[in-house]
Amino acid sequence: MGKIIAVAMPKGGVGKTTTAINLAANLALANKRTLLVDMDPMGDCNIGLGIAIGSHESGLFQLLNYIKPIDQVIYKTSIDNLSFIPSVLKNALDEERLSKLSHNNMYLSNVLRSVIFNYDFIILDCPPYLRGLTTIALTASDSVILPMKPEMFSLNAAIKIVEHISWVKKNWNSLIKIEGILITMYEPRTKASSQMQDRILNQFARYLFKTIIPKNTTLNEATLNGTPAILYNPSSIGAKAYSDLAFEIVSRS
Ligand SMILES: Nc1ncnc2c1ncn2[C@@H]1O[C@H](COP(=O)(O)OP(=O)(O)OP(=O)(O)O)[C@@H](O)[C@H]1O
Ligand SMILES: [Mg+2]
Repeated sequence: MGKIIAVAMPKGGVGKTTTAINLAANLALANKRTLLVDMDPMGDCNIGLGIAIGSHESGLFQLLNYIKPIDQVIYKTSIDNLSFIPSVLKNALDEERLSKLSHNNMYLSNVLRSVIFNYDFIILDCPPYLRGLTTIALTASDSVILPMKPEMFSLNAAIKIVEHISWVKKNWNSLIKIEGILITMYEPRTKASSQMQDRILNQFARYLFKTIIPKNTTLNEATLNGTPAILYNPSSIGAKAYSDLAFEIVSRS
């Protein structure tokens, strides 16, 4: 049976979407049937996959509002084995409605469980806040990846989300686990990166992935080109790091 993994951290720009897209693409290229779900009303997964925003008629918004059933919001992508549920919001009011749907936390969990046999992995890219759609995603997930930039403010965000996961575990989803904390945008030769890595190790050693994602311009360029790094420049250190992450996750699942 497939595994549902959220990518979450209540802080902007730490590499959630980059991780969700590159992990999903690597899993798909390793012949794992993968579904990527864009939980963020910004719709950044569209950009990273090179799909124009607005080109899908329905998505998560229509699913969570009971307008469309799940099979009508899943789209194939240009990558074999990779399917996609876009966010698809038409206006700001939609976004407000979507973020107030936490009264119905279990719905996403139930609909994803209804298609889980079609997939090996379902990856949920969360928005940069704790409640609302992130809680809905955590309620639906078997585990969660926490991307962290090696900087002080990320540590605070990580402490908050670890507490929030305990709350979700108590109230909504007793089975959720932390898949791992993923250090992103690491710069090996800077003192700040290595000092922060030590701090993260001190606090969260048992959760850390072996894989560390370096700061690498290819990851940025690949997103701008709408192509996962493994297809854009497979020999880059960024692409290789996300292959390693996919391997680490597959080998423990
Ligand atoms: N390892 C990396 N090296 C260099 N640039 C990166 C790396 N990871 C992400 N980026 C770039 O950093 C920016 C933020 O990344 P991303 O959108 O993945 O973060 P996010 O956590 O999803 O942000 P938000 O919370 O706003 O959704 C993007 O421009 C992305 O291309
Ligand atoms: Mg994002």
